[in-house]
Amino acid sequence: MSLLSVRGLTVNYGHVEAVRGIDFALEAGQITTLVGANGAGKSTTLMALSGLVKKAAGGVVFDGQDISMSAPHRIVSRGLVQVAEGRATLTTLSVRENLELGAYTRRDGAAARARDIEHVFSLFPRLAERATQLAGSLSGGEQQMLAIGRALMAKPRLLLLDEPSMGLAPLIVQDIFRTLKRINEAEGLTIFLVEQNVKQALKLAQRAYVLENGRIVLQGSGTELLGDPRVQAAYLGH
Ligand SMILES: Nc1ncnc2c1ncn2[C@@H]1O[C@H](COP(=O)(O)OP(=O)(O)OP(=O)(O)O)[C@@H](O)[C@H]1O
Ligand SMILES: [Mg+2]
Repeated sequence: MSLLSVRGLTVNYGHVEAVRGIDFALEAGQITTLVGANGAGKSTTLMALSGLVKKAAGGVVFDGQDISMSAPHRIVSRGLVQVAEGRATLTTLSVRENLELGAYTRRDGAAARARDIEHVFSLFPRLAERATQLAGSLSGGEQQMLAIGRALMAKPRLLLLDEPSMGLAPLIVQDIFRTLKRINEAEGLTIFLVEQNVKQALKLAQRAYVLENGRIVLQGSGTELLGDPRVQAAYLGH
């Protein structure tokens, strides 16, 4: 059974049909990507899963439970956690304080939280070196790492990311994607990655969907879509 399955998801903003009845599924333990150009409806899809925009139609089932009508905080407490967009960390708090805040929904005590902060530091050594530094003074790449680390502190079962590569240098993007792969492989964390960086996203993901004008137009394994002439022409500049 899929960890998350979506049927007929439709989101409108007034007269704008942003997402037009899409179906997709996320398999447990896999990295799935949703790629597409500006305005395709990627962020809207993620916000709909997190309960942050109103669905005009469609069903979302997470781990066997219908969450289509659930409030955002209920969805997070079930384990569906979105990395803060635009790496919106709390700039006047330190790296460590940001990570502690990521655990605010947990009830499992200070020792478990402290252990998980150490775990995030092992995944992102640059954050460990900067534990007491204010988040606002981190580089863009470090802020993205912190945003991911903070989401991990909520103990997600499904991690949603909206364009973590945005505005970052290729080497930093590779570093972040490698770490996502490590977390996925070592911990079996299911990841849903929305990206405009089509090439890197398809390399990383086992399964991929291409979104155009609110519709899924192609799907397959990451490798299949990397080799697909339509993907190459439209997104890889071949
Ligand atoms: N709050 C809003 N009000 C009205 N229209 C919106 C709103 N948010 C998004 N849209 C429109 O919905 C469509 C999908 O937008 P969305 O942000 O989901 O695209 P995206 O694929 O995430 O694009 P990008 O890659 O640029 O982030 C676009 O046409 C956009 O203009
Ligand atoms: Mg977007």
